[in-house]
Amino acid sequence: MGYGLFITGTGTDVGKTYVTALLAKAMKAYGFHVGYYKAALSGADSIKESDAGYVKAVAYLDQEENSLLSYLYQHAVSPHLAAKWEGNPMELAKVRHDYGGVREKYDYVLVEGSGGIVCPLRYDDKTHLFLEDIIVALKLDTLIVADAGLGAINAVTLTAEYLKSRDLGCRGVILNRFTETAMEKDNAAMITAITGLPILALVPPNADDLAIDKDTLRSLFKEKRP
Ligand SMILES: Nc1ncnc2c1ncn2[C@@H]1O[C@H](COP(=O)(O)OP(=O)(O)OP(=O)(O)O)[C@@H](O)[C@H]1O
Ligand SMILES: [Mg+2]
Repeated sequence: MGYGLFITGTGTDVGKTYVTALLAKAMKAYGFHVGYYKAALSGADSIKESDAGYVKAVAYLDQEENSLLSYLYQHAVSPHLAAKWEGNPMELAKVRHDYGGVREKYDYVLVEGSGGIVCPLRYDDKTHLFLEDIIVALKLDTLIVADAGLGAINAVTLTAEYLKSRDLGCRGVILNRFTETAMEKDNAAMITAITGLPILALVPPNADDLAIDKDTLRSLFKEKRP
């Protein structure tokens, strides 16, 4: 049975998929048997064209395509709204089951969130499901991906505080599109000063690899909740 890590972000399009692909690639290079899972994805016609397909391709994952993702919606809107339009609303039992299948096969599983930390996945007469319900159900700690630029301090602090308010663990922050400006360097320092979270990696534009050492990577998955 493998360990998982939940990759969230300060919003949509911040680079969760891009960074997750680099994390998976780095882990594979270090010899970790790594898999990927995403519960719900909207705005793609097929798994291949989706975040899941991207990570599989970049990191050369040997994982079967159908096990990467549980719910695929075509409209590029929040999954709860896409499910209203397209049907097929999320069942938490299916997410648990599908994730469990990936965990059985891989030592480490990178679980990518949808949107930012507040993301309704299903909101109908029968049930209300939010992203945080998945994090709780799968017993995962989180990692925050954020854009390194202006606004990073506010966005990361709000995300970290929200996680704390829900009693969800956070292992640290990866700053994306980092161009080494004095402001971005200060953002990194201030995020740690304010939230206490470590900056685990800095990802430049168009990076092919992630500068992160093996022990740090492994430690993100340690000390699992029971
Ligand atoms: N460091 C980077 N260098 C170059 N392009 C990047 C970088 N980070 C992200 N991108 C590009 O920006 C776009 C958004 O990134 P990505 O899809 O990873 O965001 P996301 O947070 O996963 O979004 P979503 O909420 O839709 O899952 C993509 O086209 C991606 O290739
Ligand atoms: Mg994504």
